Amino acid sequence: MVSWTCLLFLLSQCLLVSTYFGRANAQTVPIVPGLSWNFYASTCPSLKSTVREQLQIVLNQDIGQAAGLLRLHFHDCFVQGCDGSVLLDGSASGPGEQSAPPNLSLRAQAFRIIEDLRRRVHQKCGRVVSCSDILALAARDSVYLAGGPDYDVPLGRRDGLNFATVNATLANLPPPSSNTTALLNSLAQKNFTATDVVALSGGHTIGISHCISFTGRLYPSQDPTLDQTFARNLKRTCPAANTDNTTVLDIRSPDTFDNKYYVDLLNRQGLFTSDQDLYTDSRTRGIVTSFAVNQSLFYEKFVVAMIKMSQLSVLTGNQGEIRGNCSARNSNNLWLSSTVEETEKGSYSAF
Ligand code: HEM
Repeated sequence: MVSWTCLLFLLSQCLLVSTYFGRANAQTVPIVPGLSWNFYASTCPSLKSTVREQLQIVLNQDIGQAAGLLRLHFHDCFVQGCDGSVLLDGSASGPGEQSAPPNLSLRAQAFRIIEDLRRRVHQKCGRVVSCSDILALAARDSVYLAGGPDYDVPLGRRDGLNFATVNATLANLPPPSSNTTALLNSLAQKNFTATDVVALSGGHTIGISHCISFTGRLYPSQDPTLDQTFARNLKRTCPAANTDNTTVLDIRSPDTFDNKYYVDLLNRQGLFTSDQDLYTDSRTRGIVTSFAVNQSLFYEKFVVAMIKMSQLSVLTGNQGEIRGNCSARNSNNLWLSSTVEETEKGSYSAF
């Protein structure tokens, strides 16, 4: 009798805890007020299946897009919070976040995939799901469909009305030439621990980079921490500092979301200084090694850090808006759609 009471008590505590913390290894990540694990349960019950099924089709054709979507979510969240601002095109009043140097190498196709998902979701549910939530879901599905862990993301983000300035973008996205001290300092401002930093860097287990992002390690002189054969091959791909070629981030399994990125680091085959220095620096070396030998541990810490990242400075409740087009705020859309409608009616045929 006593043990049944205990069991029931434990069960009720589990249920209580799961409402706050979601499933799969996310137990230690609290969710911010305004977000919830089942935000669209009544307003858009088909949201998660719509996104996942469509991405399954898209990624079956080109798994490389998984990397593009994951990086897009990261660039959204680090600059002004996960408010979909990186999706906004520039305006007549000035250049948008998209034209900041770190964003120039975001994949154009990733923006199209998000807008296509938005259209499908809004077709089914109406304009109730934000672009920033669709991006957060697309990023987590990309991780899963590339072979990585499956996890829940809290939902309920609203879309921002303004994009960040070029300077704010530069200030919030550390360059690949950063050493571990710079990386830890920069990410500590967003409350990330050293474990979070190493886990998030594991996003580099998929995807590609342009030469310009790492040729500082090859020319004029070679970074001594680079493995010789690896460096020779990189020089072949990038015979000059600004060659417009690309190479994979994880030479062992570039399209699979696994822990091989950390094995690369152990072998001095990390592509960026910001990657390789995580193994050189004594504060992060042990974490790198622990992920290299234990993929489940990496997955667990990655999920925690991603859920943290996905909640950075989110807009909730009545803040912001739910965009009807991810690349433009609604007021601009209204103007656009009314112009188009008028044109279609023939009233402004001279346009
Ligand atoms: C923390 C510091 C980080 C730095 C310095 C950094 C830097 C970079 C750079 C320079 C590129 C290549 C850009 C190019 O030349 O094409 C890249 C690609 C990428 N990054 Fe990061 N990144 C960081 C964190 C992250 C995080 C947190 C994630 C996700 C969790 C991530 C995911 C990716 C992915 C998936 C790609 C490949 C994109 C593609 O193939 O289109 N990065 N990163």
